[in-house]
Amino acid sequence: MKFFLDTANLDELKKGASWGIVDGVTTNPSLIAKEGRPLEEQVRMICDIVDGDISAEVVSTEAKSMIEEGRKLSKIHKNIVVKCPLTRDGIMATSALSKDGIRVNVTLCFSPGQALLAAKAGAYIISPFVGRLDDIGFTGMDLIRSITQIYKNYGYKTQVLAASLRSPTHVIDSALAGAHIGTMPFKVLDMLFNHPLTDKGLDQFLKDWGKVFHEAGAAR
Ligand code: E4P
Repeated sequence: MKFFLDTANLDELKKGASWGIVDGVTTNPSLIAKEGRPLEEQVRMICDIVDGDISAEVVSTEAKSMIEEGRKLSKIHKNIVVKCPLTRDGIMATSALSKDGIRVNVTLCFSPGQALLAAKAGAYIISPFVGRLDDIGFTGMDLIRSITQIYKNYGYKTQVLAASLRSPTHVIDSALAGAHIGTMPFKVLDMLFNHPLTDKGLDQFLKDWGKVFHEAGAAR
């Protein structure tokens, strides 16, 4: 499973990248706006930190302008994946951009039918949102399971990116469901490290080691 960071914050990205386990980055207009720099500038800086797929989202709503915007975004860096929303215009833009060899991540997917549309349009990635479905009383993870099964049935190459992940359990369940990618906030990636038995075990190993070798070293 590829791990993407769902943030545009450079400090978080530098820290995550230093661990050597970050395969890419997803941004959206809200995440870019939070950082306060123009999209192009922020995305360039992200590309300097993480060497992998970097999603940058269009903000136009009509197919023609989405296509123009997508073409411009794709020229920022070779790793850019253009993000289009799952609307009629977004799917039209996805078809056109994909035919030009531009990789598209179709975002804001909330149903298996929408995921089928994205695959048929030649999307490189589909982004089903787990947490936002949970928020309105559905089981978001069922969507990941349905999409991975449907794509398998027909051999679609579109990668399933589990998005809107809010906890380590979301990441693990997405992996069990066969998602190719999980994108998560820095906080969730950091939480994946934690286990009380790891801390307890390490503490004991070091105490046992210290009792013999530290004391022996001190006697010499
Ligand atoms: C990913 O591409 C999405 O922008 C992101 O996962 C949305 O997450 P949220 O529902 O926590 O805002």
